[in-house]
Amino acid sequence: MVYSAQHRNISILMLPWLGHGHISPFLELAKKLTSLRDFHIFICSTPVNLSSIKPKLPQKYSHCIEFVELHLPHDELPELPPHYHTTNGLPPHLMPTLKKAFDMSSDNFSDILKTLKPDLLIYDFLQPWAPSLALSHNIPAIEFITTNAALMSLSVHQLKNPNAQFPYTSIYLRDYEAKKFSNLLESSANGIKDGERVLLSSDRSRNIILVKTSGEIESKYVDYLSELMEKKIVPVGSLVQDPMDQKVDEESSIIKWLNERERSSVVFVSFGSEYFLSKEEIQEIAHGLELSQVSFIWVIRFPKEERSTSVEEVLPKGFGERVGERGVIMEGWAPQAKILKHSSVGGFVSHCGWSSVLESIKFGVPIIAMPMQLDQPVNARLVEEVGVGVEVIRTGEGGSLQREEVAKVIRDVVVEKIGDCVRIRALELRDNMKMKEDEELDWVVEELMQLCTKTEGESVSTYF
Ligand SMILES: *[C@@H]1O[C@H](CO)[C@@H](O)[C@H](O)[C@H]1NC(C)=O
Ligand SMILES: *[C@@H]1O[C@H](CO)[C@@H](O)[C@H](O)[C@H]1NC(C)=O
Repeated sequence: MVYSAQHRNISILMLPWLGHGHISPFLELAKKLTSLRDFHIFICSTPVNLSSIKPKLPQKYSHCIEFVELHLPHDELPELPPHYHTTNGLPPHLMPTLKKAFDMSSDNFSDILKTLKPDLLIYDFLQPWAPSLALSHNIPAIEFITTNAALMSLSVHQLKNPNAQFPYTSIYLRDYEAKKFSNLLESSANGIKDGERVLLSSDRSRNIILVKTSGEIESKYVDYLSELMEKKIVPVGSLVQDPMDQKVDEESSIIKWLNERERSSVVFVSFGSEYFLSKEEIQEIAHGLELSQVSFIWVIRFPKEERSTSVEEVLPKGFGERVGERGVIMEGWAPQAKILKHSSVGGFVSHCGWSSVLESIKFGVPIIAMPMQLDQPVNARLVEEVGVGVEVIRTGEGGSLQREEVAKVIRDVVVEKIGDCVRIRALELRDNMKMKEDEELDWVVEELMQLCTKTEGESVSTYF
């Protein structure tokens, strides 16, 4: 390798946004990078977030991945106590306050940069101040986007060319989704619109932008984003957590239950860690599962304030007795990767959070798409375009879910002949992505090395 002449530890500081869908991919990227080369990585976040990810980091990474606490102001913002320094469980009306508090922590972040003097900063999409601070300390900074290129190019397109139609017709928003989506870009915190934060953050990335995706899934959106941002877009692969890193006893009752099912006969139903189903949604999904007659594992979560709610209260009367052995309800948490990897699983009823989509593709499981909010509608369109899933159209009043439609799509994807193509495509994409991913990660390492060594190279060139 070219770099071996000046072989030394390269240190990277990572600053993800304070949400689960962000910290986890940054951590997975850190694991992948350190297993490919001797990078030393610091992950910077609030104490409340770090306390929950620290215990999950396997011992083998402890010498190369370190955690650094970022303290947000509390006296100035008494409505945001330290346990709210995360999007997880944050009351929605406090979201702008969290963004403001994050902005206000920039001085503290600057101190961290000064102390650690990393060779590179990798930052997220809502904090344009981070790359500017890095620059002032002479540290190169690049952005890492944890959503996909389709969503990002749609957003950037809308922001830069609000009157021109998005050139790819497979990516669109339905009537009941369009308003919410533009509200996302328009929502404002600390006097800055999110759309503006997104554009500035990308603009300030040095030469390249990392995106959590695979060229195998969406190369045309990767190319279009590159054109829009005038930067090289570097896919980092799916970054799915190694199922071996999830501490689950093979003898646990859920794995035993799966072992007793037929191949590809079970649907796994989960809507991610930050979306909570309404009572109506729970009813329609429960009846849909019942009507489909397909076996299922359903993860149900309640928001912190409703933790005392019992599952029986919200499910249709007699649901448990009627489905019997055919269904399992898990409250709170499930070992998602272990379940999706199991050969008895034949479909994933998913909200289409991007990490869930990638996990499903990684394990070759076709998707029954039920997008709920945020980027999920766009992800669901991509899932259909790529051919690895079918969306449950909201045929009810005001765009609500309907049990018959839920049941029909589950059956089509998992059981019926019509689902053959989706099932085959899911396996094919799994294999193709697997082959591509190693190549993509090597490419990432190469790009990072170039950025980290360039400043040295530049100072050398002044001798000539
Ligand atoms: C902070 O973030 C981590 C990782 O995303 C998440 O698992 C955890 O639940 C969050 N912590 C709290 C207390 O919300
Ligand atoms: C900076 O960090 C300190 C703790 O180290 C904290 O008390 C303070 O509120 C933080 N300031 C801001 C503006 O975030």
